[in-house]
Amino acid sequence: MAIIKYLGHSAFEITLTGLDGSEKNILIDPWVENPLSPVKVSDYKNRKVDYIFVTHDHGDHLGNAIEIAKLTGAKIVGIFEIALYAKEQGVESIDGNIGGRLKIDDLDVVLTPATHSSTRGAPTGVVIRGKDITLYHAGDTGLFMEMSLIGELYMPDIAFLPIGGHYTMGIREAAKAVQLIRPKIAIPMHYNTFPPIRADPEEFKKLVEKQTPTKVVILKPGDTFTYP
Ligand code: NI
Ligand code: MN
Repeated sequence: MAIIKYLGHSAFEITLTGLDGSEKNILIDPWVENPLSPVKVSDYKNRKVDYIFVTHDHGDHLGNAIEIAKLTGAKIVGIFEIALYAKEQGVESIDGNIGGRLKIDDLDVVLTPATHSSTRGAPTGVVIRGKDITLYHAGDTGLFMEMSLIGELYMPDIAFLPIGGHYTMGIREAAKAVQLIRPKIAIPMHYNTFPPIRADPEEFKKLVEKQTPTKVVILKPGDTFTYP
């Protein structure tokens, strides 16, 4: 099972049943100081967070990862250079790189390519598989053809895709991404946080549901979605 809470922008808090059957609390791209966020960094004090996944080091993704890791003891998982940076900040981390399974005991994790930029290492997306659910968070990315391989190999149940345009895919590209990935559920992200990335998620939903069997779930910051 997966319980997904949207924290605004590309930030999600997810409880996922791990490979060992235990509940894992994870954060992805926890920029919890984003203008739409329903939570604050200090809310994580005394909370159990196992892993914090960081797709790339832009401020709206690396966000508050270091502070939250310090408050919770969570391990930061990301590409080599981000993991190294986390260690330098005194935080435990797991480094990896694009393309193969990371050996994490209780989750199957693969860092995927993203067509974007980053100062520390390459930008990534991440596939996270627990006991019965597979998630794909695309990070910041343009559309790229290999998304079809991500769909074919990892068969994500839920894909988190940027739709805001300007820095990432817009609605048209993200709808095409859904066709390539073929997830059961698509959740739009990285829109309406600031003016250049204004987008209407309802328009994305209409387009995707017209073109594909995928269901689009629109979450408002603070909303929770449980799957299945
Ligand atoms: Ni970025
Ligand atoms: Mn971004």
